[in-house]
Amino acid sequence: MSLTNQPPAQTATTANANAQWGGRFAGGPSDIMQAINASISFDKALWKQDIAGSLAHAAMLAHVGIISKDDEAAIRAGLNEIGSEIAAGSFTFSEALEDIHMNIEARLSERVGEAGKRLHTARSRNDQVATDFRLWVRDAIDGLDQQVASLMRALALRAREHAADPMPGFTHLQTAQPVTFGHHLMAYVEMLARDRGRLADTRRRLNECPLGSAALAGTSFPIDRKMTAALLHFERPTANSLDAVSDRDFAVEYLSALSILAMHLSRMAEEIVIWCSSPFSFIRLSDAFTTGSSIMPQKRNPDAAELVRAKTGRINGSLVGLLTVMKGLPLAYAKDMQEDKEPVFAATDAAALCLAACDGMVRDMTANTQQMRALAGSGYSTATDIADWLVRVLKVPFRTAHHVTGRLVARAEAQNIGLAELTLAEMQAEEPGITQDIYSVLSVDASIASRTSEGGTAATNVQAQATRWLEALTSGTHTTAEG
Ligand code: ARG
Repeated sequence: MSLTNQPPAQTATTANANAQWGGRFAGGPSDIMQAINASISFDKALWKQDIAGSLAHAAMLAHVGIISKDDEAAIRAGLNEIGSEIAAGSFTFSEALEDIHMNIEARLSERVGEAGKRLHTARSRNDQVATDFRLWVRDAIDGLDQQVASLMRALALRAREHAADPMPGFTHLQTAQPVTFGHHLMAYVEMLARDRGRLADTRRRLNECPLGSAALAGTSFPIDRKMTAALLHFERPTANSLDAVSDRDFAVEYLSALSILAMHLSRMAEEIVIWCSSPFSFIRLSDAFTTGSSIMPQKRNPDAAELVRAKTGRINGSLVGLLTVMKGLPLAYAKDMQEDKEPVFAATDAAALCLAACDGMVRDMTANTQQMRALAGSGYSTATDIADWLVRVLKVPFRTAHHVTGRLVARAEAQNIGLAELTLAEMQAEEPGITQDIYSVLSVDASIASRTSEGGTAATNVQAQATRWLEALTSGTHTTAEG
């Protein structure tokens, strides 16, 4: 029904009771009841998983002798035909049948009669939906994992290309010390590697099969839960039937992982926006990843990056929404849990789109290495190198060296010149021990080349990091502790 186009009926209709559970019901639900109760408009997205779960369940029922081999063959053929109907778009989904589980089961009975009516033996929609949803999230994790890996590869390729190109490194978005553009890009590779680790961890924990927990208490039928678990590629059956039908932590955990991923992507997107803005002009995005303004002809707007930044709100909202649905629910299943799917679907779509957009932008962008190099040396970015020289060569304590350098920066600032333009005499006025050698550490390239500590920005480090990641990503091995 459509709530927007017609005034809904407020009273119970005389329509037939639900064909699947209406045995003790004389009347049908009111339109409002049907509208609030039905989930088919969104849970039809679970059709593949629902059919896979039913195929496994039927195979197990036949294996242990609860249904006949003939019935199982009829069910299998019927489910496969229904799968083709749905894939072809010729399946008619009915709101009166509430959800994907009853839509498919009703159609199965329509197609194969009695055998179809035996399928729901020793299961409930509660363990069925818990199984379908785990399968769906598991597939979604596998898809997103590939996308994250692709983005990491794109970043590492660009990082290798720009391993030695300087840019200003920032703290507080104030020029801090020179770094290489490659080093900056590789920072995101590390973040994304942890995101993959979190998704893999979520996958490992969710990979237990709820099927056979039935409504909440298990079943009196001699089912083989190990068999259905194995057929659906789960590690093992879940251990407690009440927990199995009530647990949605896997979805919450998945949304947490996506929220953290989205937070990372939003930071990258924000930097792309900053780098594209003309006062910075660190990078340029091609026409493929920019839009124009309807009034200002000169504008090239990085809308894709802005929307990646914004979609984080939707993904975080999904997490908070589901946590709120689940909070305080008594065991076992409650219909509240039907509200688990839309946030997961919405967050998955948003994350997939954001990953694709970031992947596209990273591959598309052109770095303005001249501009980045010019700005890398501005803002007294090599002041720390002076302090370090005083410590290393003159053995001045670091705190004292910091003060001396501060006074040198003040002198340069007063004359509106760079540190390298101070004369030796001016330098010696602040610290008599300073020699000509100090000028060797004042260039951007010298500063970067000196940062050879593990994980530092020296070009050799960045080159090695990028190469290591590209090899790992090609061979499919992870190179962090998170696996
Ligand atoms: N559509 C329902 C859901 O997603 C399926 C489970 C319904 N179970 C029930 N006992 N009414 O939660």
